[in-house]
Order: sequence, then structure tokens, then C-alpha cells
Amino acid sequence: MSTYPFTRLRRTRGSSWSRSLVSENEVLRKDLIWTIIVSDSKAKRTSIPSMPGIDRVNLDEIVSEAKKATDLGIPAIALFPNINPKNKTECASEALNPNGLIPQAIQAIKASTPNLGIIVDVALDPYTSHGHDGLMEGNKILNDASIEILAESANILGNAGADIVAPSDMMDGRVVAIRDSLEKAHLCDVMIMSYAAKYASSFYGPYRDAIGTSLSLVGDKRTYQMDPANSDEALREVEQDILEGADMIMIKPGMPYLDIIKRIKDEFRMPTYAFQVSGEYSMLKAVSQNGWLDEKKIVMESLLSFKRAGCDGIFTYFAPEAAKWLKN
Ligand code: PBG
Repeated sequence: MSTYPFTRLRRTRGSSWSRSLVSENEVLRKDLIWTIIVSDSKAKRTSIPSMPGIDRVNLDEIVSEAKKATDLGIPAIALFPNINPKNKTECASEALNPNGLIPQAIQAIKASTPNLGIIVDVALDPYTSHGHDGLMEGNKILNDASIEILAESANILGNAGADIVAPSDMMDGRVVAIRDSLEKAHLCDVMIMSYAAKYASSFYGPYRDAIGTSLSLVGDKRTYQMDPANSDEALREVEQDILEGADMIMIKPGMPYLDIIKRIKDEFRMPTYAFQVSGEYSMLKAVSQNGWLDEKKIVMESLLSFKRAGCDGIFTYFAPEAAKWLKN
């Protein structure tokens, strides 16, 4: 073993070319999944005050956003709906509308940019009047009744042309219910990316503003989303989802949970993704807008941290900016 002065770890850091020769991880445009909020409003774009720089886009505009993604070399986009509150019900009936906002968005995007991957959330919260990811009975979120609807909704999304369905609800048994239902509908090529370890996090606040559930959400999601104190439990969640037929797995939120990402990647070696969530976006954006930190540098460093932790890709609202920076 050699030690100082024979070993000097600074040697390889001495110039840009040698730093690049020894660099272990890299963010590439192909790692980016662009998260987009689609709205059923007439206006092409509506702003989200708690997410400066991000707009909800309507059905016309989503087609041009999809073209932009393709031009920027972004492989896939992930869609989230903001629907008119008058279409929200106790039992999320709009989630089962084959002509709903998201099925229409998928069809429009596939017609104009067929080679762009489309990932859609399988979730009830954008459609329920109470803002929960499952059906409610009294104060209880029902598990088995909810996964039936989720499975039906996955078929509708698969039929509309979604490439990947991403259940984000954290009900037990949703992955096998969805896989089973896709198989029966001859949608066997639709991939499932499960939000396998999804925490009951306070970093989702701006997203709930974006999809319009902040004010209506009754209580919190701690009876189904994970306790931020737990790490072993995340491995059990992931194991279940893999056994149930998930093709890819996701951890959410991102940066506060890099330890979870690392443990999961090390243990399962599955295609593994992180979601840099709305609150993370807003934090990074706010410090940048204040001129306290350099936006490009902190965003790229945050994305690199996901790659170093073991991610194969990252869901991020910064995808188009990051792709532009990487292009230049
Ligand atoms: C819910 C869902 C959430 C997000 C994606 N799908 C929030 C929640 O669980 O309340 C969060 C996304 C973000 O914060 O950017 N099905």
C-alpha cells in the first residue's frame, strides 16, 4: 500500500482532461424524464405560483412540448393531470373515462411524436374530491377496492397508447392487480414502473397546487405512503413490487432519499429511477432566483447525485433546461 507522498489523490485532479478520464458518473440527456402537468383548461398555459418557471399545459400545447422533448433528446415524458374540480368525485370516476384528459393527451402525442416514450401515473388523487389516492370510507382509505379501479384505469391508459404505467398510490397489491388486468386485456407490452418506495413527504406541496388537490386534501397520506424514518421497509416494498411484476422501480422524493436509492440499487440491480419532486424543484428554483446559488450548477450537481447513487434515470421538472445545458 502506498501512502503520501507516493500517493497524492490530487494528481488526477490537476487538469480538466485528467479529471474527465477518471470521472465515474455522468448525466446524459437519455437519463432525463420530463415531468409535465397537463390541464383541461382552454388556456394553452397556466402558471403555478409555487413552481416558478413551470406551467400547466393544455392539450394543444402538450403536443408542442412533446416535440420539444424529442428535439432535445429527452427519451420520455411523464404526464400528470390537472382536471376541472367539477369532474372530481368521491370515487374518482373520471379516472375511468377512456376519453379523459390523459388518454386524449397520449393519443395526441403518439400521433405527432410516436418515438417519444410516454409514462403516465396510475393514481386516483387527481380525480377524487378528497384528494386521496384511494377510495375513502369514513376516514379510512380502502386498499382492495382502490386497486380494482387502479387496474381498470391502467387498461384505459394502456389502450390509449401509454408505454409505461406508473402506479403512484402505494396500495398493497396494486402492481399484481395492474399486471393481471393488462395481461387479460392483451396489453402485455405495457411496462409497469412502480413508485415502489414512496414516502409520505412534505416535498409534494407544489405538485398538489399544480394538480389542484392542496386545498381539498382531507388529512394526510401516512396510512399508505411510507414513513420517512424507515429504510429497511423500502426494501420490502421494492421486493413485493418486483415479485408482482414491476419492470422498473422508482424512489420518491429524490435528494433527501439518496440513501434509499443506493440501498435499493445495490440490493436488487433493477432499472431504478428517482423522482426529483416538485418541492425539490421549487427549492432549487427559489435559491437560484434569489441569486444565492448558480441554477445550472446546482441543478446539474443534483442530477449527478442521482446517477452516483445508482439511478438509471431521473424524473425532473428541469429536464428541458438540463437537456439544453447538456447539448451545449
Ligand atoms: C400522487 C402523486 C404525487 C406526486 C406524483 N403523483 C403526490 C402525492 O402523493 O400527493 C408528486 C409529484 C411531485 O411532487 O412533483 N399520486
